[in-house]
Amino acid sequence: MAQPKKTLKNFIPLFILLSLSVIFLFSYHPTNLNSTKSFSFNPNTPQTHQNFTFLVKVLTFNRLESLSRCLNSLSKAHYDNHVVHLHVYIDHFQDSPNGYVEIDQKLNLSKSILDFVDGFSWKYGEKSVHYRASNAGLQAQWLEAWWPSSDDEFAFVVEDDLELSPLYFRFLKSLIDNYYYNESNFSPMIYGASLQRPRFVPGKHGNKMQIDDRTQLFLYQLVGTWGQLLFPRPWKEFRIWYDTHKAKGLKPFLDGMVTTGWYKKMGEKIWTPWFIKFIHARGYFNIYTNLLHERAFSVSHRDAGVNYGKSAGPDSYLVDEKSFDINLLKMQSLHSLKWYDFCFKEVSPGRIVLSADDLVTVLHSVQKSRTILFLNLQQVSESIIRNLLCHFERLNIQNYVLLGPQSSFLLDLARRGHPVIDTDQFFDSIRLQNSINFDESHEKLGKEIVVKAHVVRKSLELKYNTWVVDSDVIPLSSDSFLHSYDLAHDFLLGKNFKLVFIRNSASALKIWVDNVLDKVVASVASLKTRGSIATEGNFVNLVEKLLEQKKATFNRVDETDFSLNISFMDANETSSRNGKKFAFWSPEMGSEQIQKRLEEFAMWVVDSDLSCNAVVCHPS
Ligand SMILES: *[C@@H]1O[C@H](CO)[C@@H](O)[C@H](O)[C@H]1NC(C)=O
Ligand SMILES: *[C@@H]1O[C@H](CO)[C@@H](O)[C@H](O)[C@H]1NC(C)=O
Ligand SMILES: *[C@@H]1O[C@H](CO)[C@@H](O)[C@H](O)[C@H]1NC(C)=O
Ligand SMILES: *[C@@H]1O[C@H](CO)[C@@H](O)[C@H](O)[C@H]1NC(C)=O
Ligand SMILES: *[C@@H]1O[C@H](CO)[C@@H](O)[C@H](O)[C@H]1NC(C)=O
Repeated sequence: MAQPKKTLKNFIPLFILLSLSVIFLFSYHPTNLNSTKSFSFNPNTPQTHQNFTFLVKVLTFNRLESLSRCLNSLSKAHYDNHVVHLHVYIDHFQDSPNGYVEIDQKLNLSKSILDFVDGFSWKYGEKSVHYRASNAGLQAQWLEAWWPSSDDEFAFVVEDDLELSPLYFRFLKSLIDNYYYNESNFSPMIYGASLQRPRFVPGKHGNKMQIDDRTQLFLYQLVGTWGQLLFPRPWKEFRIWYDTHKAKGLKPFLDGMVTTGWYKKMGEKIWTPWFIKFIHARGYFNIYTNLLHERAFSVSHRDAGVNYGKSAGPDSYLVDEKSFDINLLKMQSLHSLKWYDFCFKEVSPGRIVLSADDLVTVLHSVQKSRTILFLNLQQVSESIIRNLLCHFERLNIQNYVLLGPQSSFLLDLARRGHPVIDTDQFFDSIRLQNSINFDESHEKLGKEIVVKAHVVRKSLELKYNTWVVDSDVIPLSSDSFLHSYDLAHDFLLGKNFKLVFIRNSASALKIWVDNVLDKVVASVASLKTRGSIATEGNFVNLVEKLLEQKKATFNRVDETDFSLNISFMDANETSSRNGKKFAFWSPEMGSEQIQKRLEEFAMWVVDSDLSCNAVVCHPS
């Protein structure tokens, strides 16, 4: 996106506008926090405009009977006076080497398909036919089927072996009204809706999904190619993303996904691996129905063709007025729907902690073995942090909360399901009660330390073991951040990479609750020079001072005993990794150098979009 030119004159109002919208978004948020899901951070709500344009895009090739069943089912559906246009894309046969007889047969088949489509009457809007001059294949048929002409135009893509329920449009219209045009249920993360019966989990070798019977509507990242409604903006974004990746020779590989195997076999014959890779990189979702008893608004007859060598028969049962009362299908508020990733693991987007009140629910929801990790995002580059979070995903580390100042990066992390604490807002919420003030030179450090002191206190009150670390380390094992040290004392301090661990105990809590905020504020203020703020101004030093003042005992560890210093080691010294809990690097290294080192150690696990290069599912 292009940056607007920032002359001072237009910069100031823009800045005010941005700050106001930020305040609005954040102040709107906390009421939803109990459900741990919320979508208030939405900069681009579409204007209400229920008179949207609806395009049915039928992709066909050489199956006349299928096409006829498909078009007939479309024309029998209820459109309730809404204008619906029909666009039919007829692919051309491939050049045939087997002589004139076969060519004549194919020509005849094409002619009969064209005759059928010409004779087919469509009374709900315009009908248009695109007859290709050479074979395009499924990928181009899908990708070239649509370029949205406005944000109020929707495409419903139908391959010719599908059959639609007469209720399908009523359902899609009500879905568009509710999840696109109703501002309080809109999310820019939703790219459309699939009408097929949801069945498989691509991150788990394509295994069957398990979903409970009470769920009627849910969000799932996977695209469904048997009746897919596409929303205009994400589709445009995808087309541009596809262009930039395809043109540069990048491949849509995503380790751990069954669809990557399909791509390796079929290459550019199919389009879904590209779309899946894009959706994974952006963290977007699709709406699905769960109508029970193997029913759906769209079924595939899986006729022999590009996808199937021989006919496999219908995958589900169609619903119609006799078997299904569409009024019973509730369009619940978006906040009450569940979100699932490519592993069909539930994710909770939008957990942003702004004040002490919000904290408790989030801590309860993330703790594991009564242990919580607070991970500080400051001073570390975005790419290093995204790489670290992919390590968390691989190792199934989920008992963390991220702390960082208000930024679009922090919002993006929350949107993708990472629990975050906005330290700016959080600080403001406790500053008032505790009348804390820092001068300008101490403000940044002061905020970070005060918020850490506060969240640690809450965690200890809830009886959790508590870690506080910066994000310039990488855990090497799933239990790196569990309570696995044999400690003589409640406190463990490691100065090499600023690690603090506090054991859940009455004695630790007693030390921590007693005036700790005042003491922390005083010790931040006691750092007189810029230099001392930079070198001594960190949480572990201040905790050490605090414990000394209170004459409390603590363990001091040398993290290098159980960690790998990648600034120092050679990647080929493989034995060095055995039994180590963390990898770290020296603070002088720049991001590019760190990335290079991590690549050598096979610890750089993000792609050029800074999104994880694998989907790793864990047993739930
Ligand atoms: C809605 O669309 C119909 C058909 O295109 C048109 O006649 C009507 O004026 C539109 N109404 C509004 C409010 O835009
Ligand atoms: C193609 O159609 C023409 C005209 O209907 C017919 O004469 C011819 O036999 C057909 N050819 C094949 C190979 O089916
Ligand atoms: C929009 O959605 C909210 C939340 O689900 C609901 O309460 C409200 O009635 C909806 N508004 C309209 C106009 O349907
Ligand atoms: C890690 O290695 C670098 C490079 O050899 C060295 O400068 C640094 O002191 C080491 N860090 C620790 C904590 O040992
Ligand atoms: C490891 O690689 C470095 C160069 O990166 C090389 O100098 C060194 O000899 C290698 N060590 C072993 C044990 O292979």
